[in-house]
Amino acid sequence: MIKQLKIYKKNYEVNNFMKSMIRDITLAPQGHDKINWVKNFMPVLNSLNDEFIKTKPFAGKKMVVTMHLEAKTAYLGLVLKNAGAEVVVTGSNPLSTQDDVAAALVENGVTVYAWYNCTDEEYEVFLNKALDSEPDIIIDDGGDLVSLLHTTRSELAGKILGGSEETTTGVIRLRALENEQRLKFPMIAANDAYCKYLFDNRYGTGQSTWDGIMRTTNLTVVGKTVVVAGYGWCGKGVAMRAKGLGANVIVTEIDPIKAIEAVFDGFNVMPMQEAAKHGDIFVTLTGCSDVITGEHFKVMKNGAMMANAGHFDVEINKVDLNKLAVSTRTVRKNIEEFKMADGRSLYLLGEGRLVNLAAGDGHPTEIMDLSFAIQALSALHIVENHNNMENKVYIMPDEVNMNVAQIKLTAMNIGIDKLTEAQKKYLNQA
Ligand code: NAI
Repeated sequence: MIKQLKIYKKNYEVNNFMKSMIRDITLAPQGHDKINWVKNFMPVLNSLNDEFIKTKPFAGKKMVVTMHLEAKTAYLGLVLKNAGAEVVVTGSNPLSTQDDVAAALVENGVTVYAWYNCTDEEYEVFLNKALDSEPDIIIDDGGDLVSLLHTTRSELAGKILGGSEETTTGVIRLRALENEQRLKFPMIAANDAYCKYLFDNRYGTGQSTWDGIMRTTNLTVVGKTVVVAGYGWCGKGVAMRAKGLGANVIVTEIDPIKAIEAVFDGFNVMPMQEAAKHGDIFVTLTGCSDVITGEHFKVMKNGAMMANAGHFDVEINKVDLNKLAVSTRTVRKNIEEFKMADGRSLYLLGEGRLVNLAAGDGHPTEIMDLSFAIQALSALHIVENHNNMENKVYIMPDEVNMNVAQIKLTAMNIGIDKLTEAQKKYLNQA
């Protein structure tokens, strides 16, 4: 492993970018094209960029951004740099890093530790390298960076002014630390801002999960039975889009209220043990582990396909799948076939990692405009308010969400009504 790292480092030094660790700097031109494309569709981030270039709110601050490293994330990194920060970016998943985008970021003066398909050991090296920069502010996605800062790198926690977290799973991990009174710095749950989860988790995951599945399989969705595990914000989006694509949709849940919601939204609801017999395509989005296991694989139809869009690759039990398989092989990029003893083939997409990122480009750009505006404003909130913040998990104030939504509406050329003074008075009366 160390040898491998040295090789990459050597390649890298040839390009004279000593600090970063990326796959290949010569890929940068394609990465620049990708970043320039997304800038056209991110009006909220563009307006923050224009403001930050003038005001430099992060001057003198070091920031580490650990996120799925593709073009939208790269643009966020550049906005933070334009705002005066010294920015280090790492990936948050081995299969979601795009090497050309990483190269372009480096050419733009951002330090990057990430390459596509890194091993678990390399992933850890990258996070540690990023932390070596001794950041003041962090932006995390899934909680691995925060976890390091509370374990092996806890000596750095005292310097952190605060940070923000991108996804549901990361927020759950943060709240666990908070409840145990172990959280060492304030964190903003960017995921829990209206302008994030209402759009990103629902419409973003809804579209990009199907994009990942469809471009990977090149098969129809119409007429197939799709099993959606978890009817939270992400699951609602994926089920809604599956219905729109013409699938018969089954939902599995553990929460009785969400289950009723799914029924009222027109979906079949049943336990996974039953759903497993019917599904052609399975998508897990629970944030939980072992949602599909050996007992389910045993009763699945020949040709059943499985994909995960939850944060970690623990929702589809790969240990069970490997145990039951008599042989495995890659049948197409990002599709692994598991041959069962009775002759059935089951297919796993993108190694059971977030399919929309492992086998796609992640959420649509216009959606990430909202999410990353919330991230940039969360960082700003920390710089401006850290002296008054406790070691707690915070949610962005309503006015920040309203402001982001208003900029987006204006960019979409959509007007809305305003309350008259008489209406305000009417609404405020007891
Ligand atoms: P959520 O909390 O709104 O929904 C999760 C749902 O799964 C809940 O309704 C819960 O009752 C259900 N659930 C939990 N365990 C289950 C089980 N064993 N079987 C069936 N249902 C179960 O969370 P959200 O926001 O929908 O996120 C879900 C996951 O997706 C998280 O890991 C999150 O980090 C991740 N995520 C992924 C994105 C992507 O780009 N692929 C984007 C945003 C979030």
